[in-house]
Amino acid sequence: MQNKINDIQKNFHIDINNVVTQQDLEFVRIKYLGRQGVLTDLMSTLKDISADEKRIFGPLCNQLKIEFQNLHLEKIAKLEQEEALLLAKKSALFDVSINKPNQLHGSLHPYTLITQEIEDIFISMGFAVADGPELETDFHNFGALNIPSDHPARAESDTFWLPDLKRLLRTHTSTVQVRTMKNNTPPIAIICPGRALRNEATDASHDFMFMQIEGLYIDKNVSVANLLAVIKEFLDKLFGKSLKLRVRPGFFPFVEPGLEVDAECPFCKTGCSTCKGTRWIELMGSGLVHPNVLKECGIDPTIYSGFAFGPGLTRLAMLKYHITDIRLLHSGKIEFLKQF
Ligand code: DAH
Repeated sequence: MQNKINDIQKNFHIDINNVVTQQDLEFVRIKYLGRQGVLTDLMSTLKDISADEKRIFGPLCNQLKIEFQNLHLEKIAKLEQEEALLLAKKSALFDVSINKPNQLHGSLHPYTLITQEIEDIFISMGFAVADGPELETDFHNFGALNIPSDHPARAESDTFWLPDLKRLLRTHTSTVQVRTMKNNTPPIAIICPGRALRNEATDASHDFMFMQIEGLYIDKNVSVANLLAVIKEFLDKLFGKSLKLRVRPGFFPFVEPGLEVDAECPFCKTGCSTCKGTRWIELMGSGLVHPNVLKECGIDPTIYSGFAFGPGLTRLAMLKYHITDIRLLHSGKIEFLKQF
């Protein structure tokens, strides 16, 4: 019995000296002081020895238990002290005054900035922001928008078709009109900022990828006056001043009548390079949604009418931030982007 007690005591000392973490210590406590631990085991052997031996070894076992409990408590205190020291050392090393010059700071892309601004303007007028896929079907991009199969926009040179010739990269964000009308009942008021792709040669004002923002409003008795009021409010807020609008007839298969909306140049009084001396800048196509489109999207054109408009978001960003080459917007050039 004495040998057994000596062994247990020796092993406990070795184990507790090896403890580095709270977790190690917990393992040692369970091993020796736990309910099925070494000490419980030792105590249970007392019943098998004689009464005389019990008188000697009983108190010895109790002493051992008290010794282990005390050492365990001491170790807890020691580990806590070490941890506090380490923390103090770490915070002493953290120098808040350190200054690292020449660090690159990220900034928001002009597309993100202008999109956020435009969304805020339309949300303030009660519009919701809708979204749609860039990989589209012929139906959503052309068919439902009253674009007949012989329309030039379907020509191979304009559109990125997938090899299956059934799907394409959307050539405009007007696709989202179709998706929104099919899934909602009027009144509908949405805008959709997003990418459009066309198979174009790239120069300072064209790229195969550009951004558009589609607008759609469907309700009873919607008129061109409603359309122009919304467009004027939008442009005035975006350019921070009251701008005159100029409206010309324009053809888009999905609207009737179709309109081209120009705004008075926000940057000059007598003509500048942005308006090419004309005082007007062409901003968007728009019009009243064609009855065929309403029908195709499950909306009764004898009850409802609506307007749609689709300015180039890329063009608006270039105007607002005075960007002269579209390629800069898509280049990822830090020198350009860090101005924003
Ligand atoms: N989807 C047209 C384009 O890409 C722009 C457009 C014109 C959108 C007239 C409209 C609209 O909603 O009514 O050129």
